[in-house]
Amino acid sequence: MWIMFIKIIFISIIAIILSFYYGDKSTDIISSLFSVVVSSKTLSNSTTRKLFTKKQLKLYNGVDKPELYISILGRIFDVTRGIKHYGPNQQYNIFVGRDASRCFVTGKFNIDDISDEVADFGNDDLRSLNYWLNFYKKEYKIVGKLIGRYFDNNGNQTPYGRAVKMMLKEAEREKEKDHLEKVKFPPCNVEWNVETGTRIWCSKKSGGIERDWSGMPYQLYEPGSKTYRCACINEHNEKLGSIKEYEDCDKSTFSCFIKGS
Ligand code: HEM
Repeated sequence: MWIMFIKIIFISIIAIILSFYYGDKSTDIISSLFSVVVSSKTLSNSTTRKLFTKKQLKLYNGVDKPELYISILGRIFDVTRGIKHYGPNQQYNIFVGRDASRCFVTGKFNIDDISDEVADFGNDDLRSLNYWLNFYKKEYKIVGKLIGRYFDNNGNQTPYGRAVKMMLKEAEREKEKDHLEKVKFPPCNVEWNVETGTRIWCSKKSGGIERDWSGMPYQLYEPGSKTYRCACINEHNEKLGSIKEYEDCDKSTFSCFIKGS
């Protein structure tokens, strides 16, 4: 406020001097100087307006403030237009007033499952997250950034934010390779119920890969990944070094029950 006041006094003094020397011509110069000062003020306002604390974001819930804002990977979008999805008591209200990036992939909307952590996601999950980020960029207006895991107090990306951005890029680059891998080693079907626990099995359509063979469920360790995934392996690939048998696999029904889950 004081800085603005001093700037106006300073420009007024220059204006008086200019009008003394140049008469009418000085008005153009003076108005340009004023517009520079005023626009720099507007600019600094708009940059600060674009940063939100968690507490501020929480208010944009359609009740405390009329607008509905959501955050994904620290970017805040105005989703007021989508009130039928995000409004109070609506199906996707859980995303409102916070960053629940993780839930866009897990589909778990319980209060305990809400999280903005995604660094442990694999390529498929990262791509699905990227899908949502691009969806919001296309469909809704971005209104700012959330200070926290992805952006710091100055609106700069945090090391975590930068790492996730790189991971998203890498996951998109690997898309074609991952698809070929899936055609070769299609994912298993998975089913869970209280009495029997988890059952995994293969079929001619498992993992969305249509084929003329079913294969058997195996633990497949993919290069660069510390964990395994369940993949359907046919007899030609059984000798691969990176696969491990599941215990209790019934080879006649192509299915296995995983103990302790
Ligand atoms: C990971 C799980 C899921 C997530 C994160 C998710 C998220 C969302 C979001 C954010 C929207 C609002 C999009 C917008 O702003 O226009 C939406 C819309 C919708 N979702 Fe889901 N969804 C999930 C699973 C499902 C499932 C399993 C179904 C159906 C069985 C479903 C059915 C719908 C429908 C019908 C719409 C409304 C489409 C429209 O009216 O434009 N969603 N979903």
